[in-house]
Amino acid sequence: MSDVVIAPSILAADFGHLYEEIKKVEAATSFLHIDVMDGHYVPNITFGVPVVESIRKGTNMVFDVHLMVTNPMDFFEPFAKAGADMLTFHVETVDDPVEAIGKVRKLGKRVGISIHPDTPIEKVLPYAPMCDLVLIMSVRPGFGGQHFMEEALARIAAVRKVIDEAVSDTIISVDGGICDKTAPRVVSAGANYLVAGSAVFSKDDHAAAVRELLSCALS
Ligand code: DX5
Ligand code: ZN
Repeated sequence: MSDVVIAPSILAADFGHLYEEIKKVEAATSFLHIDVMDGHYVPNITFGVPVVESIRKGTNMVFDVHLMVTNPMDFFEPFAKAGADMLTFHVETVDDPVEAIGKVRKLGKRVGISIHPDTPIEKVLPYAPMCDLVLIMSVRPGFGGQHFMEEALARIAAVRKVIDEAVSDTIISVDGGICDKTAPRVVSAGANYLVAGSAVFSKDDHAAAVRELLSCALS
């Protein structure tokens, strides 16, 4: 993985042409962010296992599956079998994060832990160095196209501090409201994996949008 990665979020893609949309971003990045929502943990529903299984057939991109569901423990295995490479659960949705991390690892997948903007960042810090990825939400989970929450910057910095102190190479991901203006700021705060939905898929040339975001992130 290069120093900073852009992971397009297919939530903002044209679902009627999902294969073509993925092929367009595949030209510019190896990571694809896939938002699974259940209508309980978040007030929206997206898609589930069969969609991941279908798109798996069309690309070798790394599938970063963001589980915004109340019962992620029940879905690690189905999504792993469907072709997920990284499985991220929300710290608010499990009784025992260590058990959840172990369950994903047993499936041979990379594990991510995410945190809702309303949850104190301290809740995720003890688990951060144990995970492959920490995903800090910079909008309220459930919808694309929202405004970046400034509070996320201090939260990213808090996670970065813990990761560096532990001499861990855990990826720090930020999700929501990433655009040319916010990208360099989240990188300065310590993020190295930027999820972007509308900033990529609202542009005619998706691959160019990914490259442009990366260059802004590194500026
Ligand atoms: C929101 C999702 C995000 C979303 C980001 O709950 O987790 O991944 O797609 O969309 P933008 O980049 O448009 O804020
Ligand atoms: Zn997401």
